[in-house]
Amino acid sequence: MVIRYVCTDCGREISTDEVVYRCPACAPPAGGAVQTGFQRGNLSVVFEPTTSFERGNPVDPLAFLPLPVRNAAGFPVGETPLIPVGRLRAKTGFPRLFLKLDSLNPSGSLKDRASLLVMEQAKVHASDTVTLASTGNAGASMACAGAACGLTVVLFVPGAAPRAKLLQSLLYGARVVPIQGTYDDAFSLSIEYTRAFGGINRNTGFNPFTVEGKKTVSIELYNQLGCRVPDVVYVPVGDGVIISGACKGFADLVQAGLAEKIPVMVAVQAEGSNAIARSWREKREVVLTRASTIADSLSVASPACGRMALDWLARTGGRAVEVSDEEISGAQAELGRESGSFVEPSSAAAWAGFLKDRANVEPSATVVVLLTGTGFKDTGAAEKLVSMPQPCPADLASAGELLEKQYGAGGRRGGRS
Ligand SMILES: Cc1ncc(COP(=O)(O)O)c(C=O)c1O
Repeated sequence: MVIRYVCTDCGREISTDEVVYRCPACAPPAGGAVQTGFQRGNLSVVFEPTTSFERGNPVDPLAFLPLPVRNAAGFPVGETPLIPVGRLRAKTGFPRLFLKLDSLNPSGSLKDRASLLVMEQAKVHASDTVTLASTGNAGASMACAGAACGLTVVLFVPGAAPRAKLLQSLLYGARVVPIQGTYDDAFSLSIEYTRAFGGINRNTGFNPFTVEGKKTVSIELYNQLGCRVPDVVYVPVGDGVIISGACKGFADLVQAGLAEKIPVMVAVQAEGSNAIARSWREKREVVLTRASTIADSLSVASPACGRMALDWLARTGGRAVEVSDEEISGAQAELGRESGSFVEPSSAAAWAGFLKDRANVEPSATVVVLLTGTGFKDTGAAEKLVSMPQPCPADLASAGELLEKQYGAGGRRGGRS
């Protein structure tokens, strides 16, 4: 099946039924030097719908994808809840505030949206292996998809990735290669591996289907908001692929005549991993020598989709916000305590970004904060936010003592403090 791509750097069009990654004119050829610095030559799939859509009626998000998805039932991605967070609405003064719980996808992150499409890509190209680099979630996601449909997944990860994400990938049967190096090193190595041994490479931003697959989140938001797009969306950003995918989804809705506008997109980055935010602020390309944040999924020095993400920010009147690790931890605790959402630090960054940026938003706006990954994968981060009570004898007096010691003078009584 022939698919049309456009290079987001030079504008060149490529129509092919073969697997393509980056624009050959802008990126080094296969076998050439692996790119370093701000990466070039991202390809964007041209939206060429095969069905017609009716304005005002919900649409099938999968109908927006470039390949027919046949394996959706075995890997049930998407249709994640959009929750009207009553307590947080009252607290922040935004009556149309929503959290999109994409942490409830099969492997626990939004990455499943891309893995679903790459899984189809592998089937179409009769490839039995998918290789990728990951900070943890994309790997666990592809491993989950691979287990569902019988693909071998070879996964390069930084050795410091959260253990639960590696355990998850191993349990799904992936071949996990932890490396003594960073995510950026794993990224380069996995491309070399694919060049040497074949198969599909699912590196985020490198394989154009990773941006394309993630756009279904925006189509779902459109359906969930009564066939309207939100006004403002907060997205946690590392490589810039999720935000580029979300923007592409909204742009496709506009192209299909279903929506009038692309929402204002706000890219939220951790201060210690802020290549895209700094580039946006300083209006020049900034690549980091080292990235470091408690939000491990956002930790990237040379974003694979940095140029594309910046371009979307410019086109949508969006902006970038930076949050500290302390703000991320505070946001993680608040989301748990006041909305019942247990998310990993990277997701919490989006909430921290909203808190920091909300003065720039009309309170009547429809605001969506995208929660991209579950907290169950990184219980170490959560443990730092709470204090675990020690077991006490099983009698009322001891329970009362524990409650008072742990939760203060009113601890014995019911009710929420
Ligand atoms: C849970 C989660 N949120 C956000 C991100 C950032 O996405 P991107 O790297 O596409 O900007 C990631 C990436 O790994 C992630 O796993």
